[in-house]
Amino acid sequence: MTDVRIGVIGGGLMGRELAGVCGRWDLLVDHPARPRLVAVADPVPAAREWFGRLDSVELLTADWRALIEDDGIDVLYIAVPHQLHEEIYAAAVAAGRDFLAEKPFGIDLGAAERIVSALEGSGAFVRVSSEFPFYPGAQRAYEYAASGALGDILDVRAGFYHSSDLNRAKPINWKRRIETCGEIGVMGDLGLHVAHLPLRLGWQPTSVYGRLDDVVSERPGGDGSLVPCDTWDNALLVLNAHPGEGGRDFTMLWETRRIAPGHVNTWYFDAVGMDGGVRFSTRQPTVLARFAVRDGEQTWEEVQPGNVSAWPVVSGAIFEFGFADALLQMWACYLAERAGALGTRFGTATPGEALASHRVFDAALRSWREGVPTAP
Ligand SMILES: NC(=O)c1ccc[n+]([C@@H]2O[C@H](COP(=O)([O-])OP(=O)(O)OC[C@H]3O[C@@H](n4cnc5c(N)ncnc54)[C@H](O)[C@@H]3O)[C@@H](O)[C@H]2O)c1
Repeated sequence: MTDVRIGVIGGGLMGRELAGVCGRWDLLVDHPARPRLVAVADPVPAAREWFGRLDSVELLTADWRALIEDDGIDVLYIAVPHQLHEEIYAAAVAAGRDFLAEKPFGIDLGAAERIVSALEGSGAFVRVSSEFPFYPGAQRAYEYAASGALGDILDVRAGFYHSSDLNRAKPINWKRRIETCGEIGVMGDLGLHVAHLPLRLGWQPTSVYGRLDDVVSERPGGDGSLVPCDTWDNALLVLNAHPGEGGRDFTMLWETRRIAPGHVNTWYFDAVGMDGGVRFSTRQPTVLARFAVRDGEQTWEEVQPGNVSAWPVVSGAIFEFGFADALLQMWACYLAERAGALGTRFGTATPGEALASHRVFDAALRSWREGVPTAP
């Protein structure tokens, strides 16, 4: 294994998750790289000081530019609020740094377009975080759909449900303000997770009707008084999708909900066609369902994919897989692809996929404003 020295810009929730990924790296079998989290930049002292517990950390700083300029760092993980994406990603690209970006890859479509155009001709190896497709059931669902087993596609549904915002007393934070989260709101927060598999399967959205909902429009601010909470909480997008060469258009639904009572963190992908169907949800992560007509009978069969994701692990195939494993697999595939060793395994979301998802979210905003389906 070659050591890969990683610098984290933004030592919050996701920055800390990377510490966990590095700690579990020995679970991977024959991986070409070993990440070492060596530096953290965050303006909040408590956020960066949390990383002092890691023996590998050599530098804690408030200044993100110090990491971009540091030639001793091989890869950056940039996990900051959305209004900072463009400036920091563009600076990293200009410095030729490889990085794993966080979604939504720019606060809006314009920012995503500018980051992607800065990347053109640059040697930087950049991918965008989206871990749920690495669940074994999601991998099997992807392989099934990619194999053509669906036949003519009829209906695809992909979604992500939280109830993080069900509590009206939850204080405001940057993810609930247009200024820092973006006008696309929940779509910027959860949308790439939903878009990743359909886009990877080559299913091109050609029109979008967005039904957007700002359910909780005020939340307690720092002093407890109510302040505007102006982001969309829930978004239901009805898309017309084209499957590529020779196929017929079909209906696709993308749902992102921060207020979905009964759900904590449910990501799902369902696809049904004339010849087959497949369903997977992280709510029941040990099974996926496949549809077939057998002896004239319509059958949904339950398949147990086991603990088998993209990169092999020492853990037994009979064990259960969870969120931390999905992050480990995503990082394994990001660093393997960077090392030219991914082979045919599933790759982390690309900047092009993040840009394509932004085009859909932007069209959803326009369509909701104008009340008509809109082209992305
Ligand atoms: N892949 C996922 O499952 C997932 C989950 C949650 C969030 N995210 C994404 O990760 C990113 C960060 O979200 P989070 O939940 O970790 O947020 P967070 O608020 O927990 O952490 C963000 C951190 O960035 C720091 N920060 C602010 N300004 C900075 C600056 N100028 N320089 C360096 N650091 C700065 C903050 O102090 C904070 O510690 C967002 O893009 C978000 O959409 C991804």
